[in-house]
Amino acid sequence: MKNSTTSSVLVTGGAGFIGSNFVHHWLRKKQGTVINLDKLTYAGNPDNLISLAANPDHVFVHGDIGDRHLTRDILNRYRPRAVINFAAESHVDRSILGPDAFIQTNVVGTFHLLEEARAYWTRLASDQKEHFRFHHISTDEVYGSLEEDEPPFSEENRYAPNSPYSASKASADHLVRAAWKTYGLPVLTTNCSNNYGPFQFPEKLIPLIIHNALNGEKIPVYGDGGNIRDWLYVGDHCRAISTVLARGRTGEVYNIGGNQEKTNLEIIQTVCSILDEACPDSPWKPHASLISYVQDRPGHDRRYAIDSNKIKTELGWRPEESFATGIRKTVAWYLENRDWTAKITSGQYRDWVKKNYGERDDE
Ligand code: NAD
Ligand code: TYD
Repeated sequence: MKNSTTSSVLVTGGAGFIGSNFVHHWLRKKQGTVINLDKLTYAGNPDNLISLAANPDHVFVHGDIGDRHLTRDILNRYRPRAVINFAAESHVDRSILGPDAFIQTNVVGTFHLLEEARAYWTRLASDQKEHFRFHHISTDEVYGSLEEDEPPFSEENRYAPNSPYSASKASADHLVRAAWKTYGLPVLTTNCSNNYGPFQFPEKLIPLIIHNALNGEKIPVYGDGGNIRDWLYVGDHCRAISTVLARGRTGEVYNIGGNQEKTNLEIIQTVCSILDEACPDSPWKPHASLISYVQDRPGHDRRYAIDSNKIKTELGWRPEESFATGIRKTVAWYLENRDWTAKITSGQYRDWVKKNYGERDDE
């Protein structure tokens, strides 16, 4: 048993938005125990995992991916067959106002995690070694910004990150690649477009619109609102990760996207009209009247779009939700879980809102 793995997986950042959705997805599929290592930063929320409190297949460990002793202990104790690295600082605006934490977690933290995973993997028996995976979760933002008429990002696009966040994720991706090329660590990298769905912290556009609209607060539009993102429902991202982990070729990169390009204004209008319909007695109706143009984000990427052909043709993954269906599910979830948002938008969240929006003049 000493040099063999179990059916468990180590998920990092599993108390955050995508990580917690993934943990729920994985446990629903009964694919084995999840060891969930999370530092519980402002974005990590134990409430996302509350329904798993009595589930023996979920083991939560509070800690930092950069803590080598802790990750070594976890790997030796639970002998996971894979590490899936979601842990990150993930918000572009925060990276602009305070990039240090992004370098510490996304670059240095990922490096330490990789080193411990490599040491563990090196000691595995050869058949276990072959099946072990280090799956790194990354973003389309590493490719930079597209012009309106450029084709979507494929895995062949050159890296051209423009924000401290995307630069830190790009650095991590390179470290993961180097671990494969230099040491043969069986890695997988997935670069995904913007996600939306349950459990997303309301600093990101879609939950922020819902939260502000329901509270009669201005809905801040950066610049002219014409920036484009390719939106993917988080459940589709989770299925894509499971697919790549099960059948992806080691050392390969897979881009994941929803093929749903929308401007920010389109997103805001859509969410506001769903809220108008769902909350006919709202004093803020029509919610779109709360739209307020504010100073643009510095270095604001104009357009992201993903070419998902590789994962579609090679692994047969496809999104199940369109934006039209996914956004309705998402708004319904936030309406049914207003306590979830209320709890995390008191206290420190207000300081963030003041810091990020207080200094942006209305346009
Ligand atoms: P999130 O900010 O909601 O959650 C991040 C989680 O990581 C939190 O639970 C936090 O406590 C934890 N964490 C932070 N630093 C840590 C550390 N040093 N050690 C252990 N845990 C730590 O982020 P998210 O939106 O769920 O994104 C998850 C991953 O997916 C990130 O790597 C992000 O770059 C990537 N990604 C996100 C999107 C998106 O649209 N949200 C799109 C593509 C890729
Ligand atoms: P965000 O959700 O922060 O994701 P990302 O920057 O990683 O794409 O932002 C999505 C888009 O919405 C982006 O173009 C910035 C814009 N945006 C606003 O216009 N207003 C806001 O208050 C926020 C948070 C974002």
